[in-house]
Amino acid sequence: MNNNIKKVACVGSGLIGQGWATLFAATGYAVTLQDVSDDKLKGAIDQVSLNLRLLEDNGRLYHGTAAGAAKNIRTTLSLLEAVKGVDFVLESVPDNYTAKKTVFKEMDALAPGDTIIASSSSGLLMSEIQTAVTRPGRCVLVHPFLPVHLLPLVEVVGGDQTDPETVDITCSLMKNIGKAPVRLKKEVSGYIVNRLQAAILREAVDLVANGVASAEEVDLAFCNGMGMRDPFIGPLLRAYLAGDGIENFVEHYAESYRLRWDSMATWNTISSSVKERLVDSVNEMPIVRENSLEKIKTWRDQMLMEMLKLDRTCR
Ligand SMILES: NC(=O)c1ccc[n+]([C@@H]2O[C@H](COP(=O)([O-])OP(=O)(O)OC[C@H]3O[C@@H](n4cnc5c(N)ncnc54)[C@H](O)[C@@H]3O)[C@@H](O)[C@H]2O)c1
Repeated sequence: MNNNIKKVACVGSGLIGQGWATLFAATGYAVTLQDVSDDKLKGAIDQVSLNLRLLEDNGRLYHGTAAGAAKNIRTTLSLLEAVKGVDFVLESVPDNYTAKKTVFKEMDALAPGDTIIASSSSGLLMSEIQTAVTRPGRCVLVHPFLPVHLLPLVEVVGGDQTDPETVDITCSLMKNIGKAPVRLKKEVSGYIVNRLQAAILREAVDLVANGVASAEEVDLAFCNGMGMRDPFIGPLLRAYLAGDGIENFVEHYAESYRLRWDSMATWNTISSSVKERLVDSVNEMPIVRENSLEKIKTWRDQMLMEMLKLDRTCR
C-alpha cells in the first residue's frame, strides 16, 4: 500500500468534500476535488476559500497563507482525471450503498493499484461497500465530523477484507493533517459518536414530545450542563469521577439509573405527531427565529474556534 502520500483526490464536493479539501490544502497536499456538476464545484471552491480564511484569521494555518493553500486545489468533473496518479482517495458522495458501490467500483478501476480508497460514510459498513471492488484490502472507512476543517475527530475502521496496513497508513495520514483518529476494533452501524448522538437525540426529542420541556429548554440544559463539562471528560471518565471510582459509581447509582433507563424512550422512528411537536418547538427557539441558517453556522464555527484554543493536551 502506498504510504508516501502527497497527492489526494476528494470525490464529491458537498459539505464533507469541501471540508476535506480545505484540510488537505491547508496542510500542503495537492488536492483534486471532483464532482458531477460545475455549479457544485464552484460553490465548493467558494466555501473552501472562506474556510481557509477562517483558519488563517485564527492562527490555525500553520504554513503559508489562505490564498497560497487555495492554489493546492484543482477541480474536475472527470473521475479519471481526479484519481489518476494520486496517492490517496477520499470519497464523500451521498450516503447510500448504491451510490457508494458504484463510485467505489469506478475508483477501484481508475486509481493506481496501491492507492488507498477511503469513504466518509456516516452510517454504512465498509464490509458491504468493498464487495463492489476487486482490491478490497485498500478500502477503509474514515468518518469525519462537521465542520470537517475544525473538529479533530475521525473514526477509522476497516471492513472484513480491509488490510490492517490500510488502516495504519490512514491513521498516520489523518494525524499529519491535524486529525485525532480513533480506530474502532470492529464495525458497527453508526460507529461510536453517531450511536451516542442517536441515544441523546432520541431522549431530547422524547422530552419535547412529552411536554417535559421546550426545545430551547432541552438545548440550554444540555449546553449549560453536560455539554459544558463533557467536552474534555467524556461519559465514562465522568462516571468514574461522579462515583469516586467506577466500581463505586456502578454500585452507588444502580437504583437511580435503573429508574431512568426503565422510563426512557425505545422507539426507532419519529412518528408524524412527534415530528409536528418537534418542528414547532425547534422553530420557536429564539436563535432559529431571529437568524438565518448561514448566520447560525458562522456563529457555531466561531464558537468552535474559541474552544479549539483551549489546551486539552492532558488527554
Ligand atoms: N453532513 C454531515 O454531517 C456528514 C458528517 C460525516 C460524514 N458524512 C458523510 O459524508 C458523505 C457526503 O455527505 P455530504 O453531507 O457532504 O453530502 P452532500 O449532499 O453535501 O454532498 C454530496 C456531493 O456528492 C456529489 N456527488 C453525487 N454523486 C456523485 C458522483 N457519482 N461522483 C462525484 N460526486 C458525486 C453531489 O453532487 C454533492 O456535491 C456521506 O457519506 C455522508 O454520510 C456527512
